[in-house]
Amino acid sequence: MPDVDMRVELAGVTLKNPVCVASGTFGFGREYGAFYDLGELGAICAKGLTLHRREGNPGPRIAETPMGILNSVGLQNPGVDAFVETELPFLRQYDVKVIANISGNTPEEYGIMCEKLAQAGVDLIEVNISCPNVKAGGLAYGTRPELAAEVTQVAKAHAGSVPVMVKLSPNVTDITEIARAVAGAGADALSLINTLRGMRIDVNTRRPVLKMNTGGLSGPAVLPVAVRMVWEVAQAVDLPILGMGGVSKGADAAQMMLAGASAVAVGTALFADPYAPIRVRDELAALAAGQGLERAAELIGGVKPW
Ligand code: SIN
Repeated sequence: MPDVDMRVELAGVTLKNPVCVASGTFGFGREYGAFYDLGELGAICAKGLTLHRREGNPGPRIAETPMGILNSVGLQNPGVDAFVETELPFLRQYDVKVIANISGNTPEEYGIMCEKLAQAGVDLIEVNISCPNVKAGGLAYGTRPELAAEVTQVAKAHAGSVPVMVKLSPNVTDITEIARAVAGAGADALSLINTLRGMRIDVNTRRPVLKMNTGGLSGPAVLPVAVRMVWEVAQAVDLPILGMGGVSKGADAAQMMLAGASAVAVGTALFADPYAPIRVRDELAALAAGQGLERAAELIGGVKPW
């Protein structure tokens, strides 16, 4: 790797490099651990957790699209206690920061999960208020500033010294309105974007391709939307940002950082290439070195708007 200091800070947590993996695309790391040392990553955002185990939505729940995928997984997961008992000890074998992603049906559920995860010693908690595929919680919180703020306050009150990062939805008119609300409620960081609501229809059966009719779009198709939203949010609030949405190359990660992200998460690209985050990290390091930078962090917020 080129001689560039790749370390970045995210809400007081030092990542050894800015390239993380996005929640819901990496499970709890077990499968990818067969490919490389998980300690190579900046951080692992674990599969989204709920208070109790969930089976998720019925299939089909994944469909390809031009330059992306639609998913309506519906938060399938083993529940927060199983994560603490089984998955977190597995991840702790590696020298990597662990970010737990949580979704609740009520603000109280977010509080209970934060308490459990803080006690278990995760490095950061990502509060998901933006899942487009569930009836309760999810987007209902992420599209209304007062509810987004309430969930943030409750999470902060129960997370102890563990930083709280709120994951924002792009399915809003003005993402800065929600960003300001959660910043005002005490969030330590923001992550964005979650998926964009979308739909595909089989023209022969006339049925939607996904059983839940709609799903969330991710992959390279959404990168310009994500970069634009990171840029807008970075100007609106003074919080570190974990940028995600369509990152599959080092230059994509650099765009996110220039727009204002302190770190980036690779997600959908993992399904085509399990090594994508490692490649993105190396490409980012080469890009930074090629520009004569000593530290990757020099990219953060460096865009020169016209
Ligand atoms: C899902 O499980 O449906 C996706 C999670 C999310 O988009 O937050």
